[in-house]
Amino acid sequence: MSDVPARDREVVAGAIFRGGRLLLAQRTSPPALAGRWELPGGKVEEFETPQAALARELREELAVEVRCGTRIGVDVQLSAGLVLRAYRAELVSGEPVALDHAQLAWVDAEELLSMDLVDNDRAWIPELLEELRAL
Ligand code: C5P
Repeated sequence: MSDVPARDREVVAGAIFRGGRLLLAQRTSPPALAGRWELPGGKVEEFETPQAALARELREELAVEVRCGTRIGVDVQLSAGLVLRAYRAELVSGEPVALDHAQLAWVDAEELLSMDLVDNDRAWIPELLEELRAL
């Protein structure tokens, strides 16, 4: 038996800011979350860094290349052993398209407040608003 505590598996989500707006993506599944909005992302694979996972997920979901930046907002515990974290993501190339979502939206601070965000992502609203209002 090892004394080293198991680390949580991580789900990463990307906050892409451009021109005073934030990119949101509308989920298609599961049925309970379909139609609600999130920061795009997904699960970090075994032996993958969160940074590499974010780049891979956003390539798969949005057809863009991003550079993973610093964390934004709090840790969101999804379940025992699974934590959701948001990172700033800088667009390096490509124009985001919804390969995996119903649609995308670039929102300003006021619009962010009116979007039907998934509950988990609502934890980040204060920091996202602060960043949008500073842009
Ligand atoms: O998108 P995916 O299903 O791979 O995400 C894994 C888990 O993380 C799901 O439970 C999903 O609802 C959650 N998630 C979230 N907010 C995000 C991205 C994922 O709550 N921005």
